[in-house]
Amino acid sequence: MSARIAWIAARGGPLRGDLRVPGDKSISHRALMLAAIAEGTSRIGGFLEGEDTRATAAILRQLGVRIEAPADGERVVHGVGLHGLRGSADRLDCGNAGTGMRLLCGLLAGQDFACELVGDESLSRRPMGRVIEPLTRMGASIAAADGGRPPLRIAANKALRGIDYELPVASAQVKSAVLFAGLYAQGTTRVHESQPTRDYTESMLAAFGWPIRFRPGHAELEGGHRLRALDIVVPGDFSSAAFLIVAACIVPGSDVLIREVGINRRRTGLLAALRAMGADIVEENPRRLGGEAVADLRVRHADLHGIEVPPAIVADMIDEFPALFVAAALAEGPTVVRGAAELRVKESDRIAGMATGLHALGVRVDETPDGAIIHGLGAAGRLRSAQVDSRGDHRLAMAFAVAAQRADGQARIADCANVATSFPGFMALANSFGMSVQAHPATDS
Ligand code: S3P
Repeated sequence: MSARIAWIAARGGPLRGDLRVPGDKSISHRALMLAAIAEGTSRIGGFLEGEDTRATAAILRQLGVRIEAPADGERVVHGVGLHGLRGSADRLDCGNAGTGMRLLCGLLAGQDFACELVGDESLSRRPMGRVIEPLTRMGASIAAADGGRPPLRIAANKALRGIDYELPVASAQVKSAVLFAGLYAQGTTRVHESQPTRDYTESMLAAFGWPIRFRPGHAELEGGHRLRALDIVVPGDFSSAAFLIVAACIVPGSDVLIREVGINRRRTGLLAALRAMGADIVEENPRRLGGEAVADLRVRHADLHGIEVPPAIVADMIDEFPALFVAAALAEGPTVVRGAAELRVKESDRIAGMATGLHALGVRVDETPDGAIIHGLGAAGRLRSAQVDSRGDHRLAMAFAVAAQRADGQARIADCANVATSFPGFMALANSFGMSVQAHPATDS
């Protein structure tokens, strides 16, 4: 039995404020990894001080990379070059981070030392066969527990070869693992995606000076080049902003500005979905920051209506479904989600977790194998007081806290500690702009 953090969330005031969210998780992981194997010293600004990205930094330190943290959100990484990592006798603990484990698996598949990657309870349940399979084809030797789950034992291997790989699931993590291994492989590594996914690995490799050819749905590179140190500025994480965006959409009287959010179009499917539902969201001052598109997002309350989420945008909003389910729960009429079976293998089964929690809060949700139909309560609808379980999933915890802003009474949300993996300071920020979320230490049985 372990002491876990529970939250009490309830209706606050109209949401108002001028805010920033923490740095992008995907970009922070990649920036650390590429800076670690680059030549020279890289500086990362806007780095996400989350448990996931700190776990990656700790692993790179274990592998001999000097990483300084001169200030909050800043890292100075003294790159050791492509072949400069050193083995560690200790296991490499990725914590809760699927991105950390899958990307590191690619990076470590072609090293001259063996290593073992482990994760927490949630990560230990997640499928790793999807990275083991292509890396094995490249010549890597990776042993997993039953069902291709962590821990992963990666053997020393200096003889990877490039492959031509068609991704069977839309996954930027798998694509990135193959490309990272490709840096160490003989010949050309090509990846093809039928559904383009986030392209940070490709654009960051190019920025670090590695010759890479890529366009949506395709990337290819040759092994044996070098990475040159780079200064990187990480934009605000759209996936964190998503909770504040939905909160402002559903709480009457809200008007919020969220500054400097990354709006890479492979991440912002939620904006398209919410706009189709009638949301009032304006991208102000669009600009580039560290090579990425960013904007300040102005969100005002609007009455929403249900939609059929186009399957074509599912990959572009894969992390935003918990937030979308909440918007749908308070929209007029049903919202239909399909083609999103990947949600079942995230930090938790997000379809089941959201359906169960929203049901407790008084919303009918029909689960399907690859999605759900959420029967929204409409503009005047109120959720009821309930106890819900975030299942240790950071995004479920934040989604339920947002939902509670339209509840009569309180939502008690169990198992919220993992919010610190992606959105440290969520509670303080949420309260500062009008939400009501309090922490209550509780012991789950
Ligand atoms: C990520 C890719 C996505 C996403 C995850 C971060 C990345 O996972 O859900 O939060 O940084 O590449 P998949 O590649 O498994 O879809």
